Amino acid sequence: MAIDVLITEKQIAERIKLLADEIHQEYQGKELVVVCILNGAFVFCADLVRQLKIPVYMDFLKASSYGDSTVSSGNLKIDLDLKVDIENKHVLLVEDIVDTGLTLTNVIDRLSNRRPASLKLASLLFKKARNTHLVNIDYLGFSIDDLFVIGYGLDFAGKFRELPFIGVYSEDK
Ligand code: IMP
Ligand code: MG
Repeated sequence: MAIDVLITEKQIAERIKLLADEIHQEYQGKELVVVCILNGAFVFCADLVRQLKIPVYMDFLKASSYGDSTVSSGNLKIDLDLKVDIENKHVLLVEDIVDTGLTLTNVIDRLSNRRPASLKLASLLFKKARNTHLVNIDYLGFSIDDLFVIGYGLDFAGKFRELPFIGVYSEDK
């Protein structure tokens, strides 16, 4: 088993500062609800909101997708729903990684039905090669190759979320 560093702690911090600047400009003077998508986004989200120079409402969503679907969100299981009523609110979803895009497509579909004033997405990572369900990422940290990554909130079988960097996990070394 080996872990190779792909994105360092410093690179992540620098990128987040730039993303926070963009977000800050977009939402200045507006009420913003930041929705952290659990579990993976907890580290990214904590660092991101601390770089924002605007007040935010925090909420948390935990959901999982099963089966395949592009239009219907019927196969989305919500394990923890929002407490905030997002109708007419500006909502920023914060996710760790968009892989196939299935989970996010379903989450966005479901939350859109609650008629927020706007609904945007910040994702730390994007795996272009595997993206089958097109998701528009408004604020993207890094585009990465088709690799299984861990650390900075991302796990392999529940492990490695605490690592401060993003690494590539491989079993055969
Ligand atoms: P998607 O629905 O295929 O976009 O995948 C969504 C979820 O799969 C992400 O939110 C992650 O929790 C998990 N995931 C996808 N790729 C990776 C990876 O490389 N490492 C760890 N988790 C991953
Ligand atoms: Mg996730």
